[in-house]
Amino acid sequence: MATLDRDRHRAAPAADALATFLADPDLRYFTLPGHKRSPLLAEDEPAIRYDAPGSVVWDPPGGILPPGFVNPQEQAEHLAADLWGVDYARFVVSGSTQGNLALMLAAGPPGSKVIIPRGAHKSLVAGLALAGLEPVWIVPQLDVATGLPLGVTPAAVRAALATHPDVSAIALVEPSWLGLMGDVAAIAEIAHAHGIPLLVDHAWGAAFGFHPAMPPSVMRLGADAAITSIHKTLHAYTPGSLLMANSGVLDVERLERAFQTLNTTSPAAPMIASLDTVRRDMALEGAALLDPVVRAAAMVRDRLSDIPGLVMVNPSWIDLPAVHAVDPTKLVLIMPGTGADGFALRADLWQQGIRLELVDRDSVIPLLTLGDQPGDAERLADALHASLHRHAGPPRLPTASTTLWGLMPQVGMSPRDAFFAPAETVSLADAVGRIAVETVVPYPPGVAALAPGEVVTPVVIDALREVRDAGCRIAYCADPTLATLRVATRR
Ligand SMILES: Cc1ncc(COP(=O)(O)O)c(C=O)c1O
Repeated sequence: MATLDRDRHRAAPAADALATFLADPDLRYFTLPGHKRSPLLAEDEPAIRYDAPGSVVWDPPGGILPPGFVNPQEQAEHLAADLWGVDYARFVVSGSTQGNLALMLAAGPPGSKVIIPRGAHKSLVAGLALAGLEPVWIVPQLDVATGLPLGVTPAAVRAALATHPDVSAIALVEPSWLGLMGDVAAIAEIAHAHGIPLLVDHAWGAAFGFHPAMPPSVMRLGADAAITSIHKTLHAYTPGSLLMANSGVLDVERLERAFQTLNTTSPAAPMIASLDTVRRDMALEGAALLDPVVRAAAMVRDRLSDIPGLVMVNPSWIDLPAVHAVDPTKLVLIMPGTGADGFALRADLWQQGIRLELVDRDSVIPLLTLGDQPGDAERLADALHASLHRHAGPPRLPTASTTLWGLMPQVGMSPRDAFFAPAETVSLADAVGRIAVETVVPYPPGVAALAPGEVVTPVVIDALREVRDAGCRIAYCADPTLATLRVATRR
């Protein structure tokens, strides 16, 4: 890895341009935004005080840009590309959701096949419909002890390629919501030997590569493009994200067109400025900023280690099959062995003014980041410890039915055809034999039971009923109670 020119990274062109703009009280602009940051309006709406579209903040006077003009946002994106070690970087103002859609538009022309893991975020699945792609699903390897998905193996990718040699891209979600990462470098090699790009939903990996204990960014492991949510585990304004790519195997020009197609023409300058500031902070002091997070996560795990039956994802999970790296800052409490219910834990902590990122009956995920203040992690650990004690009971089985996760879907039509198909709402029982137009994902383990275009089979219905009745959260579908499903109307 080339050494970073730290002096270059002391600059924050977009953040500085916004600060200069905001500092001029006499400036009057007959442009967007409609609120004009008017003090008369800002009194009731403080958020508008700092708001302006990027074009107003950094476009130079005159309609035609001077030759070679690089605006502060582009300068900031070049610095981000330098820091993450990639050829191409774009600040994304609509989250990794927008980035995943762009990745799918760049994956190949309509009708192309893409290898994609079951459990991909709904935005990747939506991208299949948007781009008219055909999914070649691969099932992640499951942990025998917990039933949770550990990761996609190179062997599973090789097998999918052997059956579908005409695939035009491989998509992965790395790390998973459990903070586990598979052998991305090996899968990148497989992709490249096949002459196709590896595209990664790296939403949870923004902090990767900035501390010796953190795994490397997937771009350093050979991915051709990735999207990462800088607002999730670093400190950008919600939902600021970063789209990255390397040229060679991927058509980066098509990715840029995809990005521009999906991008607003009025990106908010404060969000761009915040992404710029995060880049500067991580370049200059990334390891120092992340060090307390790495230590806090270890401290909380240590503090909870005396809770009978509690399983926690931790760096030693690197020894499990399909796991190649573990995010040491990720706290994942796996509850069944404690007898306690995640929802009960959440209710206790809620009462104490503590909010948790992701909770269901079997798992609790408090998010620790560099935004935590001294003492916060100790307060979290104490509250978790007390609540786990309070709700302890005989160990129970995890709620998720493992049948569902191992199932290969029966495809009835392409995701795009399902998206555009006339649809109706039917009872779960009446959905058997029909084609789903929506995504249905029980958490845990966050693996899709149904994706648009898939045939609803009796096995899927039985398994869905079982996980719903056991208290699983059902995500992404119109009716999370699963009394009904949206299916394509019969022709
Ligand atoms: C794996 C994964 N990908 C993508 C997203 C979408 O991210 P964003 O909220 O930045 O749009 C999420 C959101 O939780 C996610 O978990």
